[in-house]
Amino acid sequence: MSTSPEMQQLNAAIAEGIASISVAASRDELRSTMSSLTGKKGAVAAVKSSLGSLTDVDQRKALGAAVNEALTQLQVAADQRERELRVVEFAAKVEAERVDMTEVAMSPNATRRRGRMHLVTQATERLEDVFIGLGFQIAEGPEVETDFYNFEALNMPPSHPARSMWDTLFIESDVEGSVVLRTHTSPVQIRVMQEWPPPIYAVMPGRVFRKETPDATHMPVFHQIEGLVIDRGITFADLAGTIESFTKAFFGPGFTSRLRPSYFPFTEPSAEFDIRRPDGSWIELGGCGMVHPHVLRAGGLDPEEWSGFAFGFGIDRMAKERHGVNDLRDMYSDDIRFTEQFS
Ligand code: PHE
Repeated sequence: MSTSPEMQQLNAAIAEGIASISVAASRDELRSTMSSLTGKKGAVAAVKSSLGSLTDVDQRKALGAAVNEALTQLQVAADQRERELRVVEFAAKVEAERVDMTEVAMSPNATRRRGRMHLVTQATERLEDVFIGLGFQIAEGPEVETDFYNFEALNMPPSHPARSMWDTLFIESDVEGSVVLRTHTSPVQIRVMQEWPPPIYAVMPGRVFRKETPDATHMPVFHQIEGLVIDRGITFADLAGTIESFTKAFFGPGFTSRLRPSYFPFTEPSAEFDIRRPDGSWIELGGCGMVHPHVLRAGGLDPEEWSGFAFGFGIDRMAKERHGVNDLRDMYSDDIRFTEQFS
């Protein structure tokens, strides 16, 4: 059998096939090599088509099995080559896209310059300091979130109209729409409730994402700081008092705050909070409210025993306000002359 002309033809096809696979210079080339080797007009197909003319059943079986085996061998060789090419192509890409970060700072002609902290980093660190001073702990959560944490556990079941309050960016996933770039830091409330035994006094800063067109006051990527307090007998007065102490500690004694009725699915009652500048003008800072019982339950807490409040506001806007920046886009222009002005 092994010397039958069909078998010889097949062995030759495998040998030639493996040889051409191993010299494929790119993954595109590999794909076309494979389709001509295993396609209808390929050498393996030619052997396969001769199966019908074999009258001996055993010979036919053996040759059929050998054809399948040949295809497997070619596929194994192609997979191997594919892995090699991936490594080579990735290395080439890395080399082509290489950025030497020291090029500017260290070039002999440039005056040596020290880096600066970005305005948003500075604001985040100051906010953390203020809240640590008020007895809070810091927590963080993932930027890529599941629909459950970003919406559902926050009392927004699928198709809840309030989901449209956030222009969501979705990540491709097996179940369409189940993975998102978090639209706010509120999902971290749930994660903290699930992980930390109450009482909880936590702030959670981080990056959030919305489908927005950049302009002077909006960016598709920005930062929020979330606050969560869970304890026994927490009331709206505790929320108002915390916002007021924070306002004075962060902005200065000349500032004060107010709450205006509002709506968020995850707090009840809900409010927006504004702060008043010493000159009497108001700026809107963020949202807040008493944690909704459904949200407490999603976090694994019994609403009969625990109550709490939450708040969330934009860090970029605060930094903009504090430093009199006219346009948020300047903060992300990557121009060191901008950052240098604020340190
Ligand atoms: N997550 C809300 C937003 O991004 C703000 C908020 C946080 C409101 C916590 C209430 C409580 O708009």
